[in-house]
Amino acid sequence: MSEENIELHRRWNEAFNTRDVDACLAYCDPEIELHSAVTGPGPAEYHGHSGVRRWHREIAEAFGGEIRLEPEAFFDCGEHTISYHVLHGRGQQSGADVTTRAAHLCRWRNGRIVYFQGYLQREDAFRDLGVSIDELEEVAPRGDTAGTSDEKYLLADQPSELERLQLQSRVWEPSGRELLSKIDGGSGARALDVGCGALGWLRILAEWVGPSGQVVGTDIDESLLDAARSFLEGEGISNAELLVDDLFDSKLDPQSFDLVHARYVIAPLGRGPEQVASHQRLLRPGGSLVLEEWDLGSWHFNPPAPAAERLIRLLSDIFAALGGEAGRVLPELLRDIGIEQPDINAHVIALEPGHPYLRLPLQFSVALESRLLERLSDDELASLRDEAERELAEPGRWGTTFTLIQGWGPLPL
Ligand SMILES: C[S@@+](CC[C@H](N)C(=O)[O-])C[C@H]1O[C@@H](n2cnc3c(N)ncnc32)[C@H](O)[C@@H]1O
Repeated sequence: MSEENIELHRRWNEAFNTRDVDACLAYCDPEIELHSAVTGPGPAEYHGHSGVRRWHREIAEAFGGEIRLEPEAFFDCGEHTISYHVLHGRGQQSGADVTTRAAHLCRWRNGRIVYFQGYLQREDAFRDLGVSIDELEEVAPRGDTAGTSDEKYLLADQPSELERLQLQSRVWEPSGRELLSKIDGGSGARALDVGCGALGWLRILAEWVGPSGQVVGTDIDESLLDAARSFLEGEGISNAELLVDDLFDSKLDPQSFDLVHARYVIAPLGRGPEQVASHQRLLRPGGSLVLEEWDLGSWHFNPPAPAAERLIRLLSDIFAALGGEAGRVLPELLRDIGIEQPDINAHVIALEPGHPYLRLPLQFSVALESRLLERLSDDELASLRDEAERELAEPGRWGTTFTLIQGWGPLPL
């Protein structure tokens, strides 16, 4: 568990460096207590997500929005983690570069920070925990992702979409694994994830094909593939290759895959029959096509969250104009290419209070902002988001996801 906390602490650092407040909040418990060493004068205290937002604003004011953490080491202290880092900023008065050695102490519960304390005297973090630095093993920052200029550049490109796609992929991995366990012949197979984004099915396909198999992930967005590459390297997954490829003009060899998978690609693009024809071309006869898309009907909060649910309705209208609720037409699409009796399944996940995936309507509202602004004024959208934010921060509110519909089957021989 604590190794996972170190990984989460790393990711929080990375999210902080992109200055994407929503991405940072995904790692914060709604009841978080945050003590800052840099927004003073003197120690300053913040509570809950709204407090964390205020902290980010005050940091941006104090450091001209140019603050960045360069991690030097992490320490695993069970439910706590400590980071040693150099804080890079720009003095508000002087405009000069400022570098300060500092530490953060985080207490984690269910994958989120419940207590956060910043220190300018690093050793005080250990003193407050009552442990000696000599008793702990130092974990080095990961060279490929932590604070390198490449990573900052790519995350700066599209941070909220990237965070959303990786979180989303993790949430649905168990449903994907369950499906793959029903398809024989994984070991040694060649599998393709089309439009894999920042993670998609890459990790679970790599498990399914095993060390003697090969996974290919394609996307048209190079920055998402870069993020997926960092993820795979961090996980030590070496049997997956990532390629830029437009599914509607694919350069991959025909009939070269045993399994082709695509998730949430029909819904935003709305070109189901063409897409499925492209997948069919890449599969060997008898190879399996797996499609996953959503049906938005089950996407609710309990107790109801009127603002977040209004956002969902607006987003549903936007998707209806794109690819609709593509999940419901999957069997038909599969039958049209000769998969006469496709298997189908459906999954809904209950999200406990504070689960970061509850924030999906807010994250979509960033990705689809221009389309929302065709339906709402700037002010209406801002107040809808504020209200939805407040609803989601209320203790006890849980939710159900949209329904993931899975359809799959083998091509005729
Ligand atoms: C909603 S995301 C889903 C990502 C991933 N499949 C998942 O489930 O997490 C849609 C993905 O399709 C990719 N995409 C869009 N048009 C594409 C095209 N013509 N060829 C390949 N990928 C495309 C996008 O860049 C994006 O990563």
